[in-house]
Amino acid sequence: MQQTSVIILGIESSCDDTAAAVIKNGKILANVIANQAVHEQYGGVVPELASRAHQQHIVPVVEAALKKAGVAKEELSAVAFTNGPGLLGSLLVGSSFSKAFAMGLNIPIIEVNHMQGHVLAHFIEEADGTSNRPSFPFLCLTVSGGHTQIVRINDYFDFEIIGETIDDAAGEAFDKVSKMLELPYPGGPVLDRNAQQGKPVFEFPHPKVDGLNFSFSGLKTSVLYFLKRELENNPNFREENLNDICASVQKTIVDILLINLKKAIKQTGIKEVAIAGGVSANSELRKQILSLEKTGCTTYIPKFEYCTDNAAMIAITGYYKYLNQDFARPDLVPNARLKF
Ligand code: KG4
Ligand code: ZN
Repeated sequence: MQQTSVIILGIESSCDDTAAAVIKNGKILANVIANQAVHEQYGGVVPELASRAHQQHIVPVVEAALKKAGVAKEELSAVAFTNGPGLLGSLLVGSSFSKAFAMGLNIPIIEVNHMQGHVLAHFIEEADGTSNRPSFPFLCLTVSGGHTQIVRINDYFDFEIIGETIDDAAGEAFDKVSKMLELPYPGGPVLDRNAQQGKPVFEFPHPKVDGLNFSFSGLKTSVLYFLKRELENNPNFREENLNDICASVQKTIVDILLINLKKAIKQTGIKEVAIAGGVSANSELRKQILSLEKTGCTTYIPKFEYCTDNAAMIAITGYYKYLNQDFARPDLVPNARLKF
């Protein structure tokens, strides 16, 4: 029988979000996420607890996604899941579930690189039929808790990293500075909210790195010494200046990102420019990316639900892999350090 529709179930479990999504012929039908509050009290993700929470959430999350999509499991064409990079124990839950589920239905499995998923989220068609797809080749600034890269995307599965961080990721810089400022976890979005009430009046040095690469570990150290110095003069310095400190750090991180992105645009001559990953939810980054339009670029900024971890990005990547009949073997093992 000729299959007329391609319906992909996407599973994401690389860190602390358990997510399932259903995509039919490239169009989103459901995108469900269960966050894990258990980590808040520890100020960061505890890998062992993340794996256990994934085990608890995965079945209800998949059931909810299929129900919302109005799709019976027998209608699925394949199951796509994140195979890395990420926390190994977390990845094992998603991959084991996906293999068992697909085996029970006698359908193929598709492995997805999490970072590739973040980029290909730009190709999701909305339920109302709208989409805002970049054309190839385009540049994508992928900025998350573990990665900071400038990627040249020549085609769906032809990615070339032309710049990346040599130490901390941008999201990590946001989270570590938030911790120094005693902001609650997860730090990035909280720092962003405070920054929107402040002014970038404090200056922090930019790193000296070759080419299109980034470095954020120096910023962390300079914020640490800056706070130490100011607190010696005024013990209430942090509380009295919190919003301005947040605005200053945020602007520094985004300026560092934009300087290299502009260099990449100049070097490659590519004017299709996208952002992806958790930090693409940042208000200052979204503002500065949009301003590239004045220089003749066309910019692509994901909807908030596709910035941070989600399974819609895994399902859309799975959809394009399905079209290539690019299936995984059942003995595939997740890879915590998977590269493009
Ligand atoms: O993509 P993501 O959800 O997970 C990874 O693949 O790492 O990214 C999470 C990162 C965290 O570091 C988080 O603090 C950061 O994205 N983040 C933000 C914002 N929202 C999430 N950073 C700055 N501003 C935000 N609004
Ligand atoms: Zn991510």
